[in-house]
Amino acid sequence: MQKLIIKGNKELNGKIYISGSKNATLPILAASILGNQVQLKNIPLVKDIFTMVDLLNFIGLKTNFIKRKNIINILNIDKNINTLAPYKLVKTMRAGVLVLGPLLTKYGKAKVSLPGGCAIGTRPVDLHLFALKKLGAKIKIKDGYIFAEAKKGLIGSVIRFPSISVGATENALLAAVKAKGKTILKNCAIEPEIKDLIEFLKKLGVKITSKGRTITIIESGFKNSKIVHEIIFDRIELGTYMIACALLAKKKMKIERINPRIVKSEIDILKKIGVKIIKSKSAVTIKRNKKLKKINVTTKPYPGFPTDLQAQLMVLLTQVNGVSKIKENIFENRFMHVPELKRMGAQIEIKNKTAIIKGPTKLTGAEVMATDLRASVSLVLAGLVAENRTIINRIYHLDRGYEFLEDKLKSCKAEIKRI
Ligand code: EPZ
Repeated sequence: MQKLIIKGNKELNGKIYISGSKNATLPILAASILGNQVQLKNIPLVKDIFTMVDLLNFIGLKTNFIKRKNIINILNIDKNINTLAPYKLVKTMRAGVLVLGPLLTKYGKAKVSLPGGCAIGTRPVDLHLFALKKLGAKIKIKDGYIFAEAKKGLIGSVIRFPSISVGATENALLAAVKAKGKTILKNCAIEPEIKDLIEFLKKLGVKITSKGRTITIIESGFKNSKIVHEIIFDRIELGTYMIACALLAKKKMKIERINPRIVKSEIDILKKIGVKIIKSKSAVTIKRNKKLKKINVTTKPYPGFPTDLQAQLMVLLTQVNGVSKIKENIFENRFMHVPELKRMGAQIEIKNKTAIIKGPTKLTGAEVMATDLRASVSLVLAGLVAENRTIINRIYHLDRGYEFLEDKLKSCKAEIKRI
């Protein structure tokens, strides 16, 4: 099993570019089932994307992945389509459940494995199924699979989500695009990745408008011509590297290929802590400030502070003056990095949904275990700050979502290697 070895407490110096967003690419790959010929650009080369492409191939789409250019061409000739998403592919990557909406709406049926729980929580799909039922789908759960059917097609409806879910909004949207009449989705997630999905669907010919948390989809024809779409940047990767710079960039560092307006809450919070950030049109410049201030943060759906940056922010808060608090409001079990950070010297206490972080503390290298994608990268950040050597085990989690992590860090003088 591969490990990462980091020699910490070294200054970072250089420039970093941000890759395409994993969480925007996954639903757009699922949405490609609805088209004929699609070209996607700026695809991040990470494990979850490869798994989704395997799933599309299993379903019967033809794909040509030009990895050196981060481009994928997808062809759906609507022949020999398998409306099945098997357990072996969905269990390793929950986003596999996003093929449910497109398969059902286009082919009238789908059999998709239930994704099951994962390290950060139970993660049910009841809200996905609630929306599909409202669109007229018949749904049965049997043998660990969702069996969905809509022989005469789906029917537009007004659906208010009882709580906000990124995946349920995406699945409902992907199903509604071929429903008869008009669908109004209320209390939707409005993450930038969903905005990107809407842009993609518009290119396919779907009539969609969105205002606040309401998305309206009107029955429309699909284009047969080839469409080209470039995936937005990965805002969580950006947040991760902004925190790395806030910890270790003695001189100004530039992070490129981004849009700072999309990460307003993250930048505001880092600035409140005292990090020096200068925004330009497609980059941010960051420098460490030794006098960092404590803060209280709660994770929320977009435009709030993202749960996917909670673990990384916690590492920064171990280095600020005073007692900070982070309340995790999205997932019930997303503090698994805490015991590992404590092994490196962090002073963190958990009370219900809140982590209380005492700073500043000197972190020292240790052998630690990665548990999920964002927890893993928080250990990388901690390893970069800590004195001596940190060994991170189970780094396959990192490979699910961070493109060229070691290369990007090494190019900024970090001492990190994979064995
Ligand atoms: C997406 O997961 C992201 N994944 C996650 O990124 C991210 O943490 C999460 O949104 C929140 O921002 C992708 O985009 C592929 P949710 P998703 O449905 O869609 C509950 C990462 O590290 N819920 O918005 O699964 C759920 O349990 C990952 O890149 C239900 O109760 O998240 C959670 O508490 C991990 N019933 C809350 O809603 C449902 O049917 C939000 O989950 C669905 C969700």
